Amino acid sequence: MNKIEIQLALLLLVFIGLGCQSNKGTKSETASETNAYYTEQHRPQFHFTPEANWMNDPNGMVYFEGEYHLFYQYYPDSTVWGPMHWGHAISTDLIHWEHLPIALFPDSAGCIFSGSAVVDHNNTSGLGTDGLAPMIAIFTYHDFVGEKAGTTTFQNQGIAYSTDKGRTWKKYGEPVLKNPGIKDFRDPKVMWHSDTEKWIMTLAVQDHIEFYSSPNLIDWKRESGFGKELGAHGGVWECPDLIQMNVEGSDQKEWVLLVSINPGGPNGGSATQYFVGDFDGQKFTTSQKAIKWIDYGADNYAGVTWSNVPEKDGRTLFMGWMSNWWYAQVVPTEKWRSAMTFPRELVLSAGKIIKSVPVKELELLRNRNTSITNKHITDNFNLTQEVPFDLSLSELNMTLIPEENTSSIKLILSNSLDEKIEIELNLRKNELSVDRTKSGKTDFSERFYAKHVAPIVIEEKIKLQVLLDVASIEIFYNDGECVMTDIFFPTQPFNQIELVSTGAGLTIENASVYQLNSIW
Ligand code: FRU
Repeated sequence: MNKIEIQLALLLLVFIGLGCQSNKGTKSETASETNAYYTEQHRPQFHFTPEANWMNDPNGMVYFEGEYHLFYQYYPDSTVWGPMHWGHAISTDLIHWEHLPIALFPDSAGCIFSGSAVVDHNNTSGLGTDGLAPMIAIFTYHDFVGEKAGTTTFQNQGIAYSTDKGRTWKKYGEPVLKNPGIKDFRDPKVMWHSDTEKWIMTLAVQDHIEFYSSPNLIDWKRESGFGKELGAHGGVWECPDLIQMNVEGSDQKEWVLLVSINPGGPNGGSATQYFVGDFDGQKFTTSQKAIKWIDYGADNYAGVTWSNVPEKDGRTLFMGWMSNWWYAQVVPTEKWRSAMTFPRELVLSAGKIIKSVPVKELELLRNRNTSITNKHITDNFNLTQEVPFDLSLSELNMTLIPEENTSSIKLILSNSLDEKIEIELNLRKNELSVDRTKSGKTDFSERFYAKHVAPIVIEEKIKLQVLLDVASIEIFYNDGECVMTDIFFPTQPFNQIELVSTGAGLTIENASVYQLNSIW
């Protein structure tokens, strides 16, 4: 090709590229005409998934002018992990999402790994224009060339800014925080620390956390390290988050540090631990000895919280990646891979436990419902007959009162092929478990075939909230005191539900089942 032909070909490519991107903004016409949009086998209906291809961690979650932004690790060319971009979606209610074009593309400094986004209200960065507060994304550049060449400095922190509500982004250029020679040096989560009037970056550095501070998001100074000798260390530390939380029922505040770890989770592979302590603008300290987990299921990883949530809302809003590096790249979905967890509110209890519950906006999805009160059961109770609608998208809320000799309570979700998920409350061992060994397709990974177990405190009344969405279950025990999130791939959707009491019976004080609507 001569020079002009090359230029024409390039122009054509740009047009095709732009066309592809703008298609991502809305449902494609043919799909919505035939009503086939988001109806593939195993496609979650009220959880966020990309239209196509690979997704992992949520990134840059920030609220700005009426919109919740969700960026995410995205590889647009395949259903397995590859050079990372930041995909982008927005929502006005945390529930319904609109896909926007890819926000950040790889460049000569590397591809775009996980990170966060803030609103620079005082324009400390000077990157705002005409009095507009810029949105700033802070991410890790991962340079494959440097990695292949065997250097240790291939992960560096970069920033990009937007002055049009996150619709378009400009990179700042040079990385703002250079790697001091440690391979794993990534996933910056940035927050404004009002007491010291500085930005604080929380960074995962191999087996610990490092804190950096900055007056302007551009010049960073190391403050301290945390965690080499504390917490779980079965794998590399990733995707941290530092948040200040109100203690439930008091006006006391505590600092909380979330740290994802892979592998080394309580049920294998990826999981997120947390520390409750104090942060003085330089150092995080804690007297916590126990290892605490945000979620005991196998499928909630790299979760962090939204920044810039309005004070009058005041919630700590969280979302995680609903998969596990142990098998994420081989799960049996064809067009896309992975979903996010349902958005959750985190609450810090007086006993310094982080409780998670689905955000209250879940109510927007409620459709038909059925409820049962004060029903005594002796052994098996087929709940399906009480539910005159399809259960495969549903929310179940229950308060159960076991008898003294009741040793186990099971909730079994199944289909006509006898594929099932068994949730068990073992009242003798004080355990909650999810068994997905008979849940349908499991042979794509040995590690997927498993029963997951969590410790619980059993009280006189047992409260459960369960979200079931085609390919996932999220179990919130006792107002979110213990949470389990697990994915599965049944050949047909689960549409039957049974309650089984062993040892003695129980009373269903209250059970309500809601059919939920699809968000797509
Ligand atoms: C966590 C993680 C991050 C990294 C990203 C790459 O799942 O490994 O540490 O930034 O994924 O996609």
